[in-house]
Formats: sequence, structure tokens, C-alpha cells
Amino acid sequence: MADVTDGPLRTAVIIGSTRDGRFGPVVADWITEHIAQREDMTADLVDLVRTPLPTVFPAYGQTPSDEVAAQLGAVSPRLAEADAFVIVTPEYNHSFPAPLKNAIDWHNEQWHAKPVGFVSYGGLAGGLRAVEQLRVVLAELHAVTIRNTVSFHNYGEIFGADGKPADPACDAAAKAMLDQLTWWAHALRDARRVRPYAV
Ligand SMILES: Cc1cc2nc3c(=O)[nH]c(=O)nc-3n(C[C@H](O)[C@H](O)[C@H](O)COP(=O)(O)O)c2cc1C
Repeated sequence: MADVTDGPLRTAVIIGSTRDGRFGPVVADWITEHIAQREDMTADLVDLVRTPLPTVFPAYGQTPSDEVAAQLGAVSPRLAEADAFVIVTPEYNHSFPAPLKNAIDWHNEQWHAKPVGFVSYGGLAGGLRAVEQLRVVLAELHAVTIRNTVSFHNYGEIFGADGKPADPACDAAAKAMLDQLTWWAHALRDARRVRPYAV
């Protein structure tokens, strides 16, 4: 039988918001800390402010300019290497932010047969409308979205000055989501190794 084991699951944590004064990094740092505490995962924080992507796509068949290639080069290989993704997203007008969709659309096979978990935040709905729409988008890209979502409803009342939610139920929700994510990440990594996903 082929050896399908590997090291810890490489997990790209993508911050969906690029807004000046955004709250996203607080949430991303919190879930990244959870990942860092696990022996079965490592985290790579993908911040679209630090590594912005262009918003104009090249014509079909056209090679991207050197400038565009350099911008993609700072993000695409990291998504390609990831065994799993965690998307941290707020809710903008009952959906997800445009820079996040842009980052998703620049890529294709980087998402194939890989699991995606979500941490969302917002007002009353906790960003869940953004998450449900992301599930539809990611299905088109052959990704597998994880059932449990960590969602922060009226997040301003949940996070303390230390950048962490005081309620231990939030940590339990993070563990449940990451446990499911790692199950799928192992299963899909092993499966891709035995039978490369080609569609
Ligand atoms: C353009 C825009 C649209 C928003 N729409 C919603 C919304 O539909 N539902 C909601 O709960 N919050 C909404 N909000 C509030 C955001 O949840 C809140 O501003 C949050 O901090 C945004 O995340 P960020 O700070 O990481 O950018 C909206 C905010 C912006 C900037």
C-alpha cells in the first residue's frame, strides 16, 4: 500500500477583508493561534493587504505582465501548497468582500479537492450569509466546505481588549471546526496522492 502519510497539514488562513481599520486580523490571529497549538496543523496567514492581487484579469491565453506575475507569485504558490484553507470573512451587504472573491477567482486548481473551513463575523447574522454564499462559489472550484462554521454575531460584544473572545464556547467551536477540517484535509491529501484529482 502506498505511503500516504505526510507532515502537519499546511493550512492557509485567508483574511477576506482589506478595509482600512478592519477587524479581520484580530479574528484571523485568534484562529491562527488555535491552529498553532495543534500538532497536526501549521498556519500560513494570507493577508490581501500585504500581498494584494490585481483586479484586472488578462485576456484568455494572454501571459500576465511581469508586475501581475509578481503579485500572483506572492500568493498563488502558497495556496497551491496548502492542504486546507480557513477563510476569515466579514459580511458586506449580505455577502463576502470583493477582494476575497477576487483572490478566489485568480485561482482554480489550487482549490481542487481541498477542504475549506470558515470563521465569520458581523452583526446579527454573524457573517453567515457570506459563508453560505462562499460555499456555492467554492463548490464550482471543486473544494469541499466544512459543515461547522465559527461565527461571531455582534462581534464587538464578544472580543475583549486582548483580541480574544472571553466565552470558552468560542474555543470549543474553533476546535470542532478544525477537527472536521483536519479529517477532510487528511482524507483528501491521502486521496489526491493515491488518485490525482483530474477533472
Ligand atoms: C460595505 C459594508 C457592508 C456591510 N454590510 C454588512 C452586512 O450586510 N451585515 C453585517 O452584519 N454587517 C455588515 N457590515 C458591517 C461589518 O460586519 C463590520 O463593519 C465589520 O467590521 C467588517 O469587517 P472588517 O472590519 O474586517 O472589514 C458592513 C460593512 C461594510 C464596510
